[in-house]
Amino acid sequence: MAEATKEAKPATPAPIWGKGAPHIRIENVSKRFGDFVAVDNVSLRIEKGELFALLGGSGCGKTTLLRMLAGFESPTSGKISIDGQDMAGVAPYERPVNMMFQSYALFPHMSVEKNVGYGLKHEAMSDKERADRVREMLDLVQLTPLAGRKPHQISGGQRQRVALARALACHPKVLLLDEPLGALDKKLREHMQIELANIQYKTGITFVVVTHDQEEAMTLATRIAVMDKGVVRQIGSATEIYEYPNSRFVAGFIGSINLEDGVVDEVSEECTFVRVDALGGVFRARADKRVKKGDKITFAIRPEKITITRSKPDRAVNTIAGTVNDLGYFGKDSLYRVKLANGEIVSVNFVNARRAGENERIAQWEDKVWLSFDPTAVILLTE
Ligand SMILES: Nc1ncnc2c1ncn2[C@@H]1O[C@H](COP(=O)(O)OP(=O)(O)O)[C@@H](O)[C@H]1O
Ligand SMILES: [Mg+2]
Repeated sequence: MAEATKEAKPATPAPIWGKGAPHIRIENVSKRFGDFVAVDNVSLRIEKGELFALLGGSGCGKTTLLRMLAGFESPTSGKISIDGQDMAGVAPYERPVNMMFQSYALFPHMSVEKNVGYGLKHEAMSDKERADRVREMLDLVQLTPLAGRKPHQISGGQRQRVALARALACHPKVLLLDEPLGALDKKLREHMQIELANIQYKTGITFVVVTHDQEEAMTLATRIAVMDKGVVRQIGSATEIYEYPNSRFVAGFIGSINLEDGVVDEVSEECTFVRVDALGGVFRARADKRVKKGDKITFAIRPEKITITRSKPDRAVNTIAGTVNDLGYFGKDSLYRVKLANGEIVSVNFVNARRAGENERIAQWEDKVWLSFDPTAVILLTE
């Protein structure tokens, strides 16, 4: 049999103008409005060329933090520096940053081309240089054929690209984007997420994106800061925050998860045994040096890491019996809500890898089922 040919990894292209772009350093930054603390002692570093996401629910301080980077607000305390330069007292237009606003704020009477050119109004350049730059930007966002149209003559996704081209036209070292895809419908959003990531990759500019949408943050970002009530709760890659959340808050905020109170029953070199009354027994997790016998912890497990079967699984540990209480079919997968003997509900995700009709499902409402999971699937949370 012919061996499958391995695809060559594409060479990383040299960034067009992001070379020497800055590190952003945010050190112990707080922002108060009167008595209200909107941003609470945030420290983080954003590396050059990163696509960094600030993720959190409405009102957690994302926009305020972004506006402080842009210079529209100044911190009540703490320090922001870009490329080693302290930004205190530096006006927005003097910073090596540009901001793309949520509403796009395009000029309705101006053509696409003119809108993009408007981003260069502060730049000292010749007409030729200006025209070249506009052409470069339109090419980057693939809008050259629509250069002469007005904003109302193009689609929402295209308007978003005009706003992006305008914000990028002055070659900022850092682009700040506040909910850049918020106005788009789901399909277009998914498409534009990829476009945005491609443009960031091509230009090598540091992007800081604010979003409340966890899937968006995970698709786009190299790293994510999860915010809650003005505080950064965790910083990490999408994988890190999904598979290794550091707290009950982050675990619950990112994706769906079963969270149960547990008490450490026993620890050994190989594993940790946890008594979880809600699940009706003692369960095995990976060895964890942070916990000791008697510790109260949260026992967490993602729905897709639980296996649902009709017959009792072979494994001796981490199996639970239950009854299908609710069943949701989403096409590519199904969500089973399984009721245990004590009434507790456990969510299980089942990938519909096999094509099957409604009557051929692995389990129906009221069916008796078994749940099982690997010790490595368990997340032990101490916060
Ligand atoms: N200029 C302001 N004056 C008073 N409160 C403000 C001001 N700007 C923002 N806030 C408050 O600070 C909190 C964080 O706001 P914001 O940063 O816009 O949140 P997010 O972008 O995460 O939704 C909110 O409770 C908001 O009402
Ligand atoms: Mg906001």
